[in-house]
Amino acid sequence: MGRGSGFGKVILFGEHFVVHGVPGIVSAIDLTADAKVKKIGDGITIKDERRGAKGYTEKKRTQQKESIQRMLKTMGIDLEKAFLEIWLGGNLPGFSGIGASAASSVAIARAIAEELEMNLSDERINEIAYEAEKAYAGTPSGIDNSAATYGGLIWFRRNLSGGQNTIERLSIRQPVEIVIGSTRVVADTKEMVAGVAERKNENPEKYDPLFNQAEWLALEARKTLEDFDLRKVGRLMNENHGLLQQIEVSCKELDYLINLTREQGAFGAKLTGGGGGGCMVALTPGKELQEAVATAMEKEGFKVLRAKIGIQKI
Ligand code: PMV
Repeated sequence: MGRGSGFGKVILFGEHFVVHGVPGIVSAIDLTADAKVKKIGDGITIKDERRGAKGYTEKKRTQQKESIQRMLKTMGIDLEKAFLEIWLGGNLPGFSGIGASAASSVAIARAIAEELEMNLSDERINEIAYEAEKAYAGTPSGIDNSAATYGGLIWFRRNLSGGQNTIERLSIRQPVEIVIGSTRVVADTKEMVAGVAERKNENPEKYDPLFNQAEWLALEARKTLEDFDLRKVGRLMNENHGLLQQIEVSCKELDYLINLTREQGAFGAKLTGGGGGGCMVALTPGKELQEAVATAMEKEGFKVLRAKIGIQKI
């Protein structure tokens, strides 16, 4: 039996903008998707036992099937002769926005590689997961699979000419508590990414300045994180959410949760990932603030994850 894991993630700065070459900052979280693979049976079977938002697994099933086919093709495995039983679990729930698809792709690729005794480097696993991500995100930037593969806190810039992406590891003084809140709305990342590209194309007068601001914000955020000025990081996250609202990827459920966490004392909050539903992230340094914010959300019936950014290893 082959086994593998992939990290969940939160994008702290730059989702959507990153698809178009603006830098982004992503942090793996201390939750993983885990896969087991066995050479057995007839064809490919998938047992997805992840807990998650209602309907997530059903809604993503077709994309998941396509992603596994893409993965096998990239790994040079003949689809006709592949008899694999794939089990998927782990403590990362199937919510939109926290990299559940990328984490599962990395986990499955690692597990297949182990079962078939292929000795693959992290770089190769990352490439395979990127191909698999296309099924979920259309034209993914590569930020999700990089975080899922390498873990840690990452500065990412997509190379739009098809060359190597920039992936730099950032370090901060110590891990910081966050709260992730799920809107319970299952979003389609592919549609969200395509929508931004379409509007950007149609309305460059509005979109170009917003993309310039996102670039400035990412650079400022990198410096601020490295200086460990968490109050300012929070303010920059709020600003980033403002830009995401302007490119029309937020929604009323996200805005509601974000306001709620800010009222409870979060240093800053924004949507994370594809938006249109899915998840938001609040910066809540210290166990006490994290607990207060998380409890306030749970009291209103929302599903919440308590996690940390800036962890290097689980
Ligand atoms: O919703 P998620 O967790 O799949 O994150 C998507 C992040 C985007 O920036 C919207 C797309 C991408 O590939 O970078």
